[in-house]
Amino acid sequence: MARHTVLVTRIIPEAGMGLVRAQCAARLWEEDRPMPRDVLLDRVKGVEGILCLLTDRIDKELMERAGPGLKVISTMAVGFDNIEVAEAARRGIKVGNTPGVLTEAAADLTWALMLSLGRMIVEGDRMVRAGKFSGWSPTLLLGADFSGKTLGIVGMGRIGQAVAQRAQGFGMKIIYYDSRRLDPGAETALGAQLVSLEKLIKNSDFVSLHCPLTKETFHLIGAREFSLMKPAAYLVNASRGPVVDEEALVEALRSKKIAGAGLDVYEHEPELAAGLKDLDNVVLAPHLGSASIETRNKMAEMAAKNLLAGLKGEPLPFPVPG
Ligand code: DGY
Repeated sequence: MARHTVLVTRIIPEAGMGLVRAQCAARLWEEDRPMPRDVLLDRVKGVEGILCLLTDRIDKELMERAGPGLKVISTMAVGFDNIEVAEAARRGIKVGNTPGVLTEAAADLTWALMLSLGRMIVEGDRMVRAGKFSGWSPTLLLGADFSGKTLGIVGMGRIGQAVAQRAQGFGMKIIYYDSRRLDPGAETALGAQLVSLEKLIKNSDFVSLHCPLTKETFHLIGAREFSLMKPAAYLVNASRGPVVDEEALVEALRSKKIAGAGLDVYEHEPELAAGLKDLDNVVLAPHLGSASIETRNKMAEMAAKNLLAGLKGEPLPFPVPG
């Protein structure tokens, strides 16, 4: 039986790669960096399926290059802002993602950022390593309490709700902003109250972003929002970089309009806005939201299953919402 020709744009965990290899003739990019655009455009020619990552731009040009045999695009990520989904639909190409399995890992990472930021763990680590810790001091690296503080969650989907669950354990008040209201049962269980974005920005001690990147959420948080935040407030972004105007963030951090920021994602990833890495009041992670062994294995398996279903002309087990 002829094997389907597919392109896998980066080495993924064996839990998924094994499934792909067993049934497909896979063109695999073996280098540990994203495929350069020209190579991607070249190797995609004639494939029936693409297993891609959030670092690949999957647009009209690329679908054109692949040719009419392209049946399925499967991304190993929950976010799919890198894929022109409407264009794929127009061409009858199915698109799948990996929702759900990374919810807890992403919420854990958000909390890791929030705690590191609020309690100056990274700064403290730098100080100890530099041999500058000269003993306990009543005024050394004083951070913020979490208990009794207000957490504002922007985007109350699966990950936002998992972040809220954890916040309950910390005794925080939870407010959220979303275009869709949670059902009353979920609101009560989380103790979360829906508010306007402006109210959230003004009243939160921690603002945590969990919305997808869309035309509507591009630069949702910019100079105006920073000017409305409490000077003692922190911003955490583990969603997508362009949701925040990163230049405006640098300015807000520099001028102490806000107390600090914890970032897992960047507007021009992997590049950072000028001046960002020179600031002390930021914690910078290299897009680690889903980076646990168990989670990445599950994501790879789901992405492979989407790919294989699409190649067989079956409905995808995890299609992107549309
Ligand atoms: C996703 O899946 O969209 C995450 O950003 C990966 O960590």
